[in-house]
Amino acid sequence: MSNPPPQTLTLIRPDDWHLHLRDGATLGAVVKDTARQFQRAIVMPNLRPPVTTTEQALEYRERILDAVGAAGLPGDAFTPLMTLYLTDNTAADEIRMAHGTGVIHAVKLYPAGATTNSDAGVTDLLGRCTGALEALQEVGMPLLVHGEVTDPEVDLFDREAVFIERVMIPLRAQFPELKVVFEHLTTKEGVDYVSEAEGPIAATITAHHLLYNRSAIFQGGLRPHWYCLPVLKRERHRLALLDAATGGSPRFFLGTDSAPHARGLKEHACGCAGCYTALHAMELYATAFDQAGRLDRLEAFASVNGPAFYGLPVNTGTLTLKREPFRIPDVLPMGTDSLVPLAAGETLAWSVQQS
Ligand code: NCD
Ligand code: ZN
Repeated sequence: MSNPPPQTLTLIRPDDWHLHLRDGATLGAVVKDTARQFQRAIVMPNLRPPVTTTEQALEYRERILDAVGAAGLPGDAFTPLMTLYLTDNTAADEIRMAHGTGVIHAVKLYPAGATTNSDAGVTDLLGRCTGALEALQEVGMPLLVHGEVTDPEVDLFDREAVFIERVMIPLRAQFPELKVVFEHLTTKEGVDYVSEAEGPIAATITAHHLLYNRSAIFQGGLRPHWYCLPVLKRERHRLALLDAATGGSPRFFLGTDSAPHARGLKEHACGCAGCYTALHAMELYATAFDQAGRLDRLEAFASVNGPAFYGLPVNTGTLTLKREPFRIPDVLPMGTDSLVPLAAGETLAWSVQQS
């Protein structure tokens, strides 16, 4: 006789290893959603202008902590883990200074033009950034990689696979001790590469890439709230990601890539890329792991593998999920704008217990 399915699931408090919090009124509106579920988050630096210096990252950190306080949460409710945005001009000393603060934990590589707010990104990684890469390797700070080529000749759906050949393999051959996180992995090629490669490599996986394939963008009409970068892929890629996330390898961990955009900029003739999932992140991940029959693997993915790769302790608190329906709101307030969460109006089988 098989055991009855679990009705509750208590995990070591999870962390989000890839998050967009933005700034100003948007930050003020969204930070509580993440803090309600996660103890820590790696905060992406793609603001306008981007966070390229230690000083800017420390100031941004203060604004995040102020927003946490303004949302009525205790100061220790949420720890932002800051990042720098790599440019062609990032100096090795800037990396060492960032590392010395103890609150900046990674550097983000955006190939120039690859995604939202990436105009200041890197044009030639191995030509222009070797000093910064050497410093990263030396201090042991991870390089977080948006792994898509920007070559317009390469089909949008192939950009991750081509990036592995053109950038990832040469980068890691030249810097074999560099810690690399392949961010928001979306393809079977990516899963195979991260699973088999030598040396310190890991990958984050979003909830939406575990739950949906590219048909979701077009189901019943064009649905802009399912549009993100890297774009959703075919079903066989989703299944490979689900296998990776639930398969027990410590190289895969949680990163929501929750990316808030005002409703009007998503529902637009040239809509922005990014899905808002911070509100219901753990509900979404629990649904995906439950569908795979592997709820027992959620804690390692959400709470253990990430800290291990970053060299940080696991959290001391817990988070409890219950098998109770969670109806995703149609729309959320965001300053003077509004924000549509992913899968708005749908109901998930799992709810985070309110504490
Ligand atoms: C992100 C954003 O909006 O900042 N968008 C997205 O589709 N994921 C940028 C990114 O992570 O690529
Ligand atoms: Zn992102």
